[in-house]
Amino acid sequence: MSPFKVRSNFDPRAFLNEKWQQKPTLLDGFFEKFDDPLSADELAGLACEAEVESRLVSHESGEQWQQLHGPFAADELRALPQDDWTLLVQAVDQWEPGVEALKSAFSFLPTWRIDDIMVSYAVTGGSVGPHFDHYDVFLVQGAGQRRWLLGPRCGAGSKVSDRSGLSLLDEFDAEREVVLNQGDVLYIPPGFSHYGTALTDSLCYSVGFRAPSRGEMLEGFSDRLIAASDPSQRYTDTNATPPARPGEIDTVSLRHAYQDLLTSLDSSGEFQRWFGCFVTEPRYPDLILGLNRALSVTAVAAAIARGSQLRRNPASRFAYLPPQSTNGGLLLFFADGEDFELPGVCLDTVRELCSLSAINYSRFDSELLDQRCLPLLTSLINRGSLLLREDDAAMP
Ligand code: SIN
Ligand code: CO
Repeated sequence: MSPFKVRSNFDPRAFLNEKWQQKPTLLDGFFEKFDDPLSADELAGLACEAEVESRLVSHESGEQWQQLHGPFAADELRALPQDDWTLLVQAVDQWEPGVEALKSAFSFLPTWRIDDIMVSYAVTGGSVGPHFDHYDVFLVQGAGQRRWLLGPRCGAGSKVSDRSGLSLLDEFDAEREVVLNQGDVLYIPPGFSHYGTALTDSLCYSVGFRAPSRGEMLEGFSDRLIAASDPSQRYTDTNATPPARPGEIDTVSLRHAYQDLLTSLDSSGEFQRWFGCFVTEPRYPDLILGLNRALSVTAVAAAIARGSQLRRNPASRFAYLPPQSTNGGLLLFFADGEDFELPGVCLDTVRELCSLSAINYSRFDSELLDQRCLPLLTSLINRGSLLLREDDAAMP
């Protein structure tokens, strides 16, 4: 039985229309059943691991903020006082299958929008201070109780100070107060100020979404265009007459250069490929390890035919673009920042790949698998994005 059950009267359409990216929303009793997928001790154990990103935020009298970065020594964590600190561990979904499973409760949003699940354990009084985030977040309350003060949307004029590496708001006007109990969820859109404080020792799961800035998108897309550009294509003059004032930039030359640049940016084909790669870039590429000995397409075909099972590497991200007239009828599959061009017959396979669990191994339907999709599966297995497990029971 799943440890999470979303209440049956939750209406994702109404939520998306009325609340998503618009207003902070308390989803009272969002989970009818919520069993914490990990304990405070297990979280502390992760914070002691070198490859896990963690931090400890503490404060004295609500003002003196301190932030320390992990990994921590177990003794260091054991020696902490009873009150006023929070231990935060990033991307716990990569390490704890039970936390990864929590993502399925948010399947009313595209999987490629989800970034990671940060888990925090706060003792009474623990807080990370008044702040805002640049991305959407669902704060899922686990064991214990937290109070959240909610303030207005912040803008360019909102004053923020760096306190020990924390970007905290200089002024915070609470407009609303909510207290979360186990199974409650608080949704906070980008930019809205919030200030949480643990009322009792408590766990909180922050399901965060990817929200690249326009600057990052411009940079990423133009990098791709630059890499593909022909250096022999250069600025050309349009004026055949000598300039009356040689120091002046005339409007015709200016418009010509501008148009040339706009034309090179206006490439929906390149954009589609770049976007798919961009949104599937893994956060922790080091966790995707290729096989030491690459398998051949024949070996993969044989393994699938005899019932070997597959699962997605938890660090891997998959997405696809179905064939359509705007992409020349091509099926594009994206895995971990790379694009794969496939024949349309691979659509079912690609959909199956995108719905593969990162927790449980499952059989791939070999009957439905077209031979033309095998090179893709082989490449994904060899690069470590797909994990293959031989099914001994199915071996002859
Ligand atoms: C927390 O888990 O205490 C902080 C989460 C947040 O404010 O985004
Ligand atoms: Co926040």
